[in-house]
Amino acid sequence: MDVVIVADAEAVAERAADLIAELIHRQPEAALGVATGSSPIGTYSALAERVRAGNLDCARVSAFALDEYVGLDLRHPESYHEVIRRTVTEPLGLDPARVHVPDGGAADLTAAGDDYERLIAEADGVDLQLLGIGANGHIGFNEPMSSLGSRTRVKTLAPQTRADNARFFDRLEDVPLHCITQGLGTILDAREALLVAQGEAKAAAVAAMIEGPLASLCPASALQLHRRATVIIDRAAASQL
Ligand code: GLP
Repeated sequence: MDVVIVADAEAVAERAADLIAELIHRQPEAALGVATGSSPIGTYSALAERVRAGNLDCARVSAFALDEYVGLDLRHPESYHEVIRRTVTEPLGLDPARVHVPDGGAADLTAAGDDYERLIAEADGVDLQLLGIGANGHIGFNEPMSSLGSRTRVKTLAPQTRADNARFFDRLEDVPLHCITQGLGTILDAREALLVAQGEAKAAAVAAMIEGPLASLCPASALQLHRRATVIIDRAAASQL
């Protein structure tokens, strides 16, 4: 695992955008794994800036989101379909037909998970998976105790995750109870993994991921198994290393 510690959130975003832009220059049809949450927002903005300046073309890039809430209307502003459209597809100029999000509204969610795995496989896998980390060490929505070999499936959100994400909703009760998320095994299959984290609130999870034991109690520690994982963090997020 390469750990890169930079001064602040802005430097995290620029450094992560450099890595992603290099991949897209090398491989204009790259398959990018995209995360929601606030952590990668700066990275998306830095990439969008390069697109606007004419230094990056994402028209042939495809994208696979990590996860989606179950039972939230797709048009809800906080459905990950909407969040990805607003923060990734439009600002980066991706072709919407090449952007995929798990189907949290499917009648058969097990089949929806299998379909998503098939879609990723048909695209020959993800070239680079961008990740944030939850305060409890989750990646995607793989909460503590997730199987290290898991694939896309339904999970119950941890109370801490629902509380953390309540800021995006009017009330805590509005945060869905369940989600459909790529598994840790799915994430580990990406040819490259890039995790970004900023701020003191992530310091304990970052330390457990990097220096703790490989354990399902800290799902992000699964990245210790990845052959090409890079973690870009600011000084605050690195403060417990
Ligand atoms: C969310 C997402 C994750 C994200 C994490 C951290 O709920 N499902 O993909 O990495 O929690 O969120 P944030 O970046 O807002 O702290």
